[in-house]
Amino acid sequence: EKGNYRHFMEKEIHDQPEACQHTLSAYVDPVTDHTHTPGGVDFAKVDRLQIVACGTAGYAGQIGRYLFERLAKLPTDVEAASEFRYREPAVTPGTLGVAISQSGETADTLAALRWCKAQGLKTAAVVNVHESTMAREADVLWPTHAGPEIGVASTKAFTSQVSALTALAISAAVARGCIDAAEERRLTKILMEAPRLIADSIQVEEAVRALAPELAAARDVLYFGRGAMFPLALEAALKLKEISYIHAEGYAAGELKHGPIALIDQGTPVIVIAPTDHLFEKTISNMSEVAARGGKIILITDEAGARNAPKGARTIVAPTADPLIAPLVFAAPIQLLAYHVAVQKGADVDQPRNLAKSVTVE
Ligand code: M6R
Repeated sequence: EKGNYRHFMEKEIHDQPEACQHTLSAYVDPVTDHTHTPGGVDFAKVDRLQIVACGTAGYAGQIGRYLFERLAKLPTDVEAASEFRYREPAVTPGTLGVAISQSGETADTLAALRWCKAQGLKTAAVVNVHESTMAREADVLWPTHAGPEIGVASTKAFTSQVSALTALAISAAVARGCIDAAEERRLTKILMEAPRLIADSIQVEEAVRALAPELAAARDVLYFGRGAMFPLALEAALKLKEISYIHAEGYAAGELKHGPIALIDQGTPVIVIAPTDHLFEKTISNMSEVAARGGKIILITDEAGARNAPKGARTIVAPTADPLIAPLVFAAPIQLLAYHVAVQKGADVDQPRNLAKSVTVE
C-alpha cells in the first residue's frame, strides 16, 4: 500500500531507514557490535570475489568492491551479468561467486550464478526475495530485508544491498585479520548510525523539489563522483533516465578532462556528489573547469562541503557522514532528485515506459 504517498517509489525512498535497519539486523549483533556472515562463509579462505548483477544491483556491487578491497584487502571484480556469462571469464578456484539481485529472478544474473556453480565455485546471493530461484540455488543466502519493492526504479533494495555489503566487508576484514575487534566495533557503530542518517538525508526533499523544474527542462544531465561516489553517480544517472527519460550519464570526476567535458556548454546541469573526504578537493577543482564552461553545478555535499563549494554552485546539503556510510546517506538525495524531476514531467513514475520490474528474459 502507498499510504499517503503519491507513488510507490516515493514511499520506498522513505522506507529506507527501516529497510536498512532490518537488513543490518541480519548482519550485526546490536549488543556486542560484532558482525557475522550468514551462511558461514569463511572469508579467510576466499581469495577473490566475483560479483555479478544487473542495473542498480550492479552499482551496489561496485560500491561493495570499494569496501571489500579497502577494508578486507579482498580482491573483488564486479561485472554486468550479461557480459560475464558470455565472455568465458578465467576464474580461479578460491573465488566466491556473488550474485546481487532484488528479485532473485533476473535472467542474466541467474545464468551467471549458475555458470559460477558449474565451474565448481562456491556461490552466495544477496537477494531481497528470499523464496526466489537465486536464493534457492546459491550455496549461501545473504538476505536483504527491504520488504516488497513495487516501484520499477529500485531504491530501498539498493540501499539494503549496500547495507548488507558494508556489514559483510567489515566481517571479511575481521576474518582476514585486517582489523581488530576494537576497529570492528568502531566501524559497526558507524554503520548502525546509517538508518538515522538516511532519515536525515531524506530531509533534503524540499531543496531537491525546488530544483526539479529546471532539471525537467534539461536535455542532458551529467553526474560526477569519486571513490564510492562514482558508482553512486552511475546509479543517479540510471535513476534519472529510467523515470524521467532525460539523457543522463555518470562519470568518475577524474575522467572529466578525458572526454565528457566536451559535452558541457552554457547551462548543462552537472550534478556533483561530493561529501567532505580526502577526495573532496580534487573533485572541486574539476568542477571549476565545468563552471568556466558555463555548466550549472549542483553540488550534493555535507555542511563543510557546502562552505567550500565552488562559486556559483548550488548546494544540496546532506548530513555529515563517515565515508563508510556515505554511499547510503547520499543515495536518498539522488533518488529524490530523479523522482521529483519525473513527477514534474508528469511521467508514470512507478511504471516507466519500456521497463519491467523483473527482467526474466535476457
Ligand atoms: O531484481 P534485480 O535486482 O536483479 O534487478 C536488476 C535490474 O533489472 C534493476 O536493478 C534495474 O536496473 C532497476 N529498474 C533500476 O532501478
